[in-house]
Amino acid sequence: MTDVTLTIDDQTVTVPEGTTILKAAQSVGQVIPTICYHDHCTPNAVCRTCMVEVVGWRVLAASCVAQVSPGMAVQTRSERVERSRRTILEMLNSAVDLSQAPEIQRMLVESKADPERFPDAQTRQPPLIDDNPMYLRDYAKCVLCWRCVQVCADDAQYTYAINFSGRGFETQIGTFFDKAMPATTCVFCGQCVGVCPTNALKPKREWLLEQEMTPEQILAATQGERKRRRK
Ligand code: SF4
Ligand code: FES
Repeated sequence: MTDVTLTIDDQTVTVPEGTTILKAAQSVGQVIPTICYHDHCTPNAVCRTCMVEVVGWRVLAASCVAQVSPGMAVQTRSERVERSRRTILEMLNSAVDLSQAPEIQRMLVESKADPERFPDAQTRQPPLIDDNPMYLRDYAKCVLCWRCVQVCADDAQYTYAINFSGRGFETQIGTFFDKAMPATTCVFCGQCVGVCPTNALKPKREWLLEQEMTPEQILAATQGERKRRRK
């Protein structure tokens, strides 16, 4: 495979042809913030936090999908990049509960985002869904990164229990015909919970512990659910 040499923030980098800008940056220890990207998922480029400036390109590039080319000059922290990233994070923060998303909170601080930038923005407040013994779904915390849908489908599990539903501001992750999770193809593998970056998907036991329930109460609560499911 041919090697490609480029510069990233004025540092010379040589990587194999076909490498993404994100991976090339990581190979020399440069960190580009990401939300929707996950090492074990197909990059989908929906969040736009990983945008970088490529000299000569009219628009910013999503580094998780844009591939390197010879002589490319990439800036990951130019004024234009920082402004774009800050605005995306501020918009996200205005619409979604990020209180349990520590990595995104860190990005907000590092990008000097103003948490009050959009004070009149509508906040997403769908109800907490507690319909199975394994995990809760709190889509008020969902950033629509699509990772859970991907691992439920072709990236890992091939069960296709969840997908996008709704449009625009009302878009959220859901089951077909809004069925309760036990009535879908879900096999409760937990992979969606594992890749969720915001705790929108949370193990039920962890949630019950947060409600300060004793281990006995938790056992009773989750066993009761299991018995109901078997009927
Ligand atoms: S539930 Fe979690 S993993 Fe799924 S889209 Fe929302 S934030 Fe991403
Ligand atoms: S990480 Fe690249 S668009 Fe989300």
